[in-house]
Amino acid sequence: MAVTLTPLSDADPEAVEALLDAAFGADRRGRTAYRLREGAVAIPELSFAAWEGARLVGTLQSWPVALRTAGGSDTLVMVGPVAVVPDLQTQGIGKALMAALIDAAETTGADALMMIGDPEYYERFGFTAAPAAGWRIDGPYEQRRLLARVRRDVAPEGELRSCHCREDGNPPAFETAA
Ligand SMILES: CC(C)(COP(=O)(O)OP(=O)(O)OC[C@H]1O[C@@H](n2cnc3c(N)ncnc32)[C@H](O)[C@@H]1OP(=O)(O)O)[C@@H](O)C(=O)NCCC(=O)NCCS
Repeated sequence: MAVTLTPLSDADPEAVEALLDAAFGADRRGRTAYRLREGAVAIPELSFAAWEGARLVGTLQSWPVALRTAGGSDTLVMVGPVAVVPDLQTQGIGKALMAALIDAAETTGADALMMIGDPEYYERFGFTAAPAAGWRIDGPYEQRRLLARVRRDVAPEGELRSCHCREDGNPPAFETAA
């Protein structure tokens, strides 16, 4: 199977939504992770599509998210959803998407990534629960699935909130939600 990766903007947004429904189920929108992304604009340099020929077979999206701390607010990158079409899962597409993300994060200087996901899968990419142990999110989630990959100082305690970005999104002047 030959899979190629491109920027996510090459994919039809409806095809992306259909893929996410297939991977996570149509009830995915109620999840805490979705609420955290509300109002945010996806980060183009950190969002990818995987293709087998002309077929969209995987996607990875990244978003700005705010970490509210006692001292103020920090902006982190929230990775996800990461999704692969059910019939091609466990064949390396997720790993390829995550490798592209890590490369792009290093190139663009995105040095504080977080996600909600299975540590059993994402630990291999450097995401662990330890840096996020003191972070909280308003809404149901499992603390063990709140993961981070940080390469700079990030507050050990804080509340993750959605991040409202300007419409143009570029340059990303982030304003945290009230
Ligand atoms: C999770 C997902 C992105 C992984 O991508 P993929 O292309 O299927 O998997 P890869 O080929 O990259 O990796 C396969 C390896 O990951 C493991 N793996 C896959 N999903 C896993 C999970 N949720 N938890 C633990 N391990 C997992 C496989 O057992 C396999 O292990 P191995 O390398 O030791 O053989 C994909 O399966 C998916 O979209 N799943 C549906 C959405 C979902 O359930 N996500 C849960 C995490 S948020």
